[in-house]
Amino acid sequence: MAPMSKALIGRIAVGAVVVVLVAVVAVLGKMWWDSRLPETYNVMSYGTHEYGGGAVPPDHAGHGASTGMSVAALKGPSDGTPDAHFELIARAADIRLSSGQVVHALTFGGRSPGPELRVRQGDLVEVVLRNDDVEDGVTIHWHGLDVPNAEDGVAGVTQNAVLPGESYTYRFRAEQVGTFWYHTHQVSSKEVRRGLFGVIVIEPRDKQPGVDLAIAAHTFDGVATLNGDESGRQTVAAGTEVRLRLVNTDSFEQTFTVSGTPFRVLAIDGTDLHGPGELEKVALPVAAGGRIDVGYVQPPNGVRVGIEGTATAVGLGSSGGPPPGEVPPTATFDPLTYGTPAPTPFDASSAFDRRFEMTITRKPGFFDGSPGLQWAINGGIYPDVPVFVVEDGDLVEVTIANDSNGVHPMHLHGHHLLVLSRDGRPSTGSPWWSDTLNVQKGESYVVAFRANNPGIWMDHCHNLTHASQGLTMHVAYAGVSTPFLVGDDPGNAPE
Ligand code: C2O
Ligand code: CU
Repeated sequence: MAPMSKALIGRIAVGAVVVVLVAVVAVLGKMWWDSRLPETYNVMSYGTHEYGGGAVPPDHAGHGASTGMSVAALKGPSDGTPDAHFELIARAADIRLSSGQVVHALTFGGRSPGPELRVRQGDLVEVVLRNDDVEDGVTIHWHGLDVPNAEDGVAGVTQNAVLPGESYTYRFRAEQVGTFWYHTHQVSSKEVRRGLFGVIVIEPRDKQPGVDLAIAAHTFDGVATLNGDESGRQTVAAGTEVRLRLVNTDSFEQTFTVSGTPFRVLAIDGTDLHGPGELEKVALPVAAGGRIDVGYVQPPNGVRVGIEGTATAVGLGSSGGPPPGEVPPTATFDPLTYGTPAPTPFDASSAFDRRFEMTITRKPGFFDGSPGLQWAINGGIYPDVPVFVVEDGDLVEVTIANDSNGVHPMHLHGHHLLVLSRDGRPSTGSPWWSDTLNVQKGESYVVAFRANNPGIWMDHCHNLTHASQGLTMHVAYAGVSTPFLVGDDPGNAPE
């Protein structure tokens, strides 16, 4: 046979390259096609159901939408006259900051934050949500309150989004004491940023004396605010016991500063700390969605609460004068070693029924038809993320590892997590219960919770932009199903 001519070899080479390119395009095309989220889907039908080394519950086979107990049945008390009744009306409104800047906001009752809801422990709380004109629909999620699943306010999982002209009633017993907040969980990355949130405080039955003030941080159109303004004043007489409830409603970490007085951190995420020591010049980072309560006795000169890196502040003092200047912090608060130990219902040495890993990374791929660097949980891009399946009564351990470059404030609905360790260092201070745990880049936390609130619960990053980019998964109780659907067609989009 004659040797192949150069031209022929060239043609074969070109042909081979074309074949490879076509194959690559076909593979990418299939990845793109497969990544598109369906028009309508049930959150229980996606992802990898994991059992954490525990039993695979027999009634979980098939984990379809139609089997088992419906989340809709897991309601709060339906009888009884409420001890506290509120109406929250969602509507678009302009709000004016003291700088004169006008924000086209979405509000509850024409303002943002919406009305502060204050109730007492044990109260039966009833909240009627009405949507006036918020196009995409609205829900209310009670962030940090471990309410029955049907009251959890997640569009497409526990209810349908409430459209303009519609209403929805939430009823639950206020069991926990502490600082919480409420926000829409429909298109939350946009609607919360635009103002659909407020604070809910559950006071103990015997009310503490002194001044009790909730301060919510939120950034509107790039302007950091506290309780909806760049500056605020509160009159407090010297010698008064003060409790400040600092709430971060932004999608990124905010660091609060308290200047002019020593203080104690009384609570994290609505749970009181044990044996909190006195701090001064200590910066208080609060996870997106997290809360920190601070206590002090009002000194003769004023106190200033600010957001680090901004001029935004609230002054507390006996006169109407300006708040004192910010005293730059010299240290940063770390709950891992703060306070003193106290008994907990379980600890690191307990026998766990299930142990899960949640490892967050970033990798190239497709998310809902878009190529790019995507968030992944345990290597999968949403919806190929895990579902942690648990059974009622299980003691569950979760290792949350952040192997990505961002910080992720991880929020589990319906439960509180006991922090056991960070990067292998055990928690040695007060018991540290969290519902919104800031996991910094490179960090790894071991946390635990008792599965005692049946339902299908979101477990997601409270950087709500990250959640909308796929940093979302669920903890699901075996045998519980949801009749609600997510997607364009039902118009439910919790993230
Ligand atoms: Cu504060 Cu799933 O949310
Ligand atoms: Cu995140």
